[in-house]
Amino acid sequence: MAPNFNTSDSLYDFVVKNGNGVKGLIDSGLSEVPERYIQPEEERIKKVKTKRHDVSPIDLSKLRGPDHKKVLDEIVRAAETLGFFQVVNHGIPLELLESLKDSAHRFFNLSPEEKSLFYPGVSPSTKVKYGTSFAPEKEKALEWKDYISMGYTDDHDALQYWPNECKEVALDYLKLSSTMVRDIVEILIENLGVRVEESRIEGIIGMKMVNMNYYPLCPNPDLTVGVGRHSDMGTITVLLQDGIGGLYVKLDDHNNNHNDVEWLEVPPIPGALVINIGDTIKILSNGKYKSAEHRVRTTSTESRVSIPVFIFPKPTEKIGPLEELVKKEGVARYREVMFQDYMNNFFANAHHGKKSLEFAK
Ligand code: OGA
Ligand code: NI
Repeated sequence: MAPNFNTSDSLYDFVVKNGNGVKGLIDSGLSEVPERYIQPEEERIKKVKTKRHDVSPIDLSKLRGPDHKKVLDEIVRAAETLGFFQVVNHGIPLELLESLKDSAHRFFNLSPEEKSLFYPGVSPSTKVKYGTSFAPEKEKALEWKDYISMGYTDDHDALQYWPNECKEVALDYLKLSSTMVRDIVEILIENLGVRVEESRIEGIIGMKMVNMNYYPLCPNPDLTVGVGRHSDMGTITVLLQDGIGGLYVKLDDHNNNHNDVEWLEVPPIPGALVINIGDTIKILSNGKYKSAEHRVRTTSTESRVSIPVFIFPKPTEKIGPLEELVKKEGVARYREVMFQDYMNNFFANAHHGKKSLEFAK
């Protein structure tokens, strides 16, 4: 029997406060999208004006071989144009990618009571958080998504405080992706033609977090969003998506030569990982690299999972266009901000496209 939500408040309490999440709504037998989830016309994700991003993934194993320069150019080019690319031979075993998706399903299949043990305030660690939507108290229309967020401090804390259903695989994923992350960030920064100290790189990639996103099947994907349009605030994001699809990247005026196409779908490629550039790299590069706006469409047939590793600067790191670059270019397109402040501003607002970047203007 579907619970009767007479008021928007009772629905909000059920989903947001009582640990049921969107998954609880669907499990309760709900067959229509509740009012609270209906997006305004301009935010709905239509399939017209979209196209698959059909380019081959970048083979990272070739970074250490004769094709080094070619691979490097591919990475730089993708970061300058779309801000998104896919990689294979990334050093993460394919079995681990499968286990990650399985473990995400295991976690979200727990009861609402078990999942709510990771609510802020009761979670055994402030770095571990189960939630729904993005900023529910700020959003007019909620996002059709539940998540668990696991901030990394050290291995001991991860194994102690992250959920049993996924802690080992999530930790392996985070650690095994770190070589690739460093390679990519170093390549991007070196390509700017400025010298950056090793310790600065450490600061720029100094904070890491693994999320598991769960997008329950949705009775009407035309009315909802899984994630509303946003750019990621950090340095780079490594994303594992399952085979369902629905991730769209916005083309800006400069790279839009597909005529009527506004959004490109980043198609699932078995064994590949999606890499995208965050606001931090955009700011450091004085605007050269793109932190593309993206969003997720829901699906009516199956639940989708995705598992991002977010790489952020250390909270105390000062983020601004690299000094040498500003000297060369004669203009600073962003002001310097402390990453902690940038992050606080990001989380204080609902997802709203590229508005997050205005904080550094
Ligand atoms: C995110 C995000 C995309 C996806 O979590 O920031 O953009 O495919 N996720 O789930
Ligand atoms: Ni994102």
